[in-house]
Amino acid sequence: MRFRLLNLNVVILALSQIAHAIPAPRARDDSFENLRGLTRLQIDRSGKEGDPPDKYFHESVFHPHYDGRFANKVQSYNSRIHALTHLIRTYLSFTHSIGAETWIMHGSLLGWYWNRRIMPWDSDVDVQVSERSIQFLADYYNMTVHTFNVPSFSEEGNGEVDGNGEREGELESRNYMLEINPHWTNPSVEDTLNVIDARWIDLSTGLFIDITTLRRERTAEKEGLQGTMMCKDKHHYKADDVFPLRDSVFEGMPVKVPYAYGSLLEEEYGIDCLTNTLYEGHRFDPEALAWKRVTDHESPRTSPGWYPDRGRKPSRFRQSTKKPGLKDEGHAVPGSSLSF
Ligand SMILES: *[C@@H]1O[C@H](CO)[C@@H](O)[C@H](O)[C@H]1NC(C)=O
Repeated sequence: MRFRLLNLNVVILALSQIAHAIPAPRARDDSFENLRGLTRLQIDRSGKEGDPPDKYFHESVFHPHYDGRFANKVQSYNSRIHALTHLIRTYLSFTHSIGAETWIMHGSLLGWYWNRRIMPWDSDVDVQVSERSIQFLADYYNMTVHTFNVPSFSEEGNGEVDGNGEREGELESRNYMLEINPHWTNPSVEDTLNVIDARWIDLSTGLFIDITTLRRERTAEKEGLQGTMMCKDKHHYKADDVFPLRDSVFEGMPVKVPYAYGSLLEEEYGIDCLTNTLYEGHRFDPEALAWKRVTDHESPRTSPGWYPDRGRKPSRFRQSTKKPGLKDEGHAVPGSSLSF
């Protein structure tokens, strides 16, 4: 498999992108009722009932990385990769077209580091935005739906594109919605129920991108300490580690990455994350420049037992603490229930 960069232009660059605002719902919420016409489901599968009232985003009852207003099941391995690939590509296309500043972080940055692609075992995508960008998105784009043509996916797959079930030359249209958490204006890390500031949601699979805002640390600034930044998920950064952002490519799309990506990754996932070629049931194939699933006869016992979550701050599991241990179908890794 070759690192595909050029053959992707088929899709994104020819995207028809239609944004239309949804009529403002009466109630100040994101309820299932208000989304009729956008969702295929008859029954809300979000965990809203069990969530504290102040929590804005409700993950599904069946998996923390799915939006239960739009999906009632986890996707297969290939379908998830397909969906996540096009989530990030459409998000980058959209933010680029409106001039919103954004860059990849966490597991997505690690995937970028290895081969400029998402990691096949990941079940979400992580990006950050600047404070000015989240303000802009909240002011003008909350609840907007964007239609893109993406390559059709077939569960059988014909292997023509990456063996991931994309049908060469066939497109299907998918809707994506940007939703901004009204609590984004509260910068306090005490607001632990609302650490995700916004989501870019694939309305056909319920998978999404978590968007967090990188904020100035105003309390530290008052005490004379300059140049530190943070997100509500309690990650702290030196402004110099993030800015100036570098230009690169991710999943075939122009992307920004933080300046000191190597040290940010080592700090988050441990020093091995940049060298270890075996984890989460996948081995990095340097010739193909791809993570390949380890087959059953390659014993997991040869794995050093290293997982990228090591070194991760506990808060990284974010809003999902009440539904741990769920895995996507197709994850064949014993002993690993954490995800990025
Ligand atoms: C976005 O729209 C939803 C649905 O109307 C609303 O509940 C939410 O408060 C809005 N977010 C912002 C930042 O205004």
